[in-house]
Amino acid sequence: MDKRIVVLISGRGSNMLAIAAALRAERWPAAIVGVIADRPQAGGLARAAEMGLPTAVVDYRSFARRDDFEGALREAIDALAPDAVVLAGFMRVLGAPFVEHYRGRMLNIHPSLLPAFPGLATHRRALESGVAVHGATVHFVGVDVDDGPIVAQAAVPVLAGDDEDTLAARVLAQEHRLYPMALRWLLEDRLRIDGARVRLEGPHPGESRLLWHDER
Ligand code: GRF
Repeated sequence: MDKRIVVLISGRGSNMLAIAAALRAERWPAAIVGVIADRPQAGGLARAAEMGLPTAVVDYRSFARRDDFEGALREAIDALAPDAVVLAGFMRVLGAPFVEHYRGRMLNIHPSLLPAFPGLATHRRALESGVAVHGATVHFVGVDVDDGPIVAQAAVPVLAGDDEDTLAARVLAQEHRLYPMALRWLLEDRLRIDGARVRLEGPHPGESRLLWHDER
């Protein structure tokens, strides 16, 4: 039976689209069974609908308490019986019971090489800090923000002429390779979590948890 993926978004949804495209191109035995946004304005909703993906909104502003929002979100997700829950630019901090409920089957992508630069404005902070390498991380979702066992990372150089936009674009292009790859490993049941560490079982030749893209 096809594996079932639910994607949570808040914004434009380019990672969601990259996953949908990979799924089609590589003919995974998997399907995106729902794209759920926490706000009706999320641009990715229309893009998902154009691709024929089922969409829903659980609007965080309709709930007075975070627990109530998370309860409603959980109901919406669980109704879709997912094997994997994918946070793709989902801008809400999730409480411990929610995280616990999806432990081992919920991934997030963060636009930095964690544990460097958790939180917001990662590209600006990377430029300000003077690092020569930057990137993105796919990790299992843990209780702390942008924390949890790291599945895979993509690294890119920081170039002399970079501003926030050029650096963000270079990282985003790699996010679109990284997230489908990591999700596929999860769906193939090849990821073993050992404390803070993740082991990839049965790596094929050339397969690595590090994507390195140096376009200079
Ligand atoms: C990405 O940079 C992702 O790493 C971060 O939010 C952004 C979402 O972009 N968590 P998109 O909505 O997938 O285009």
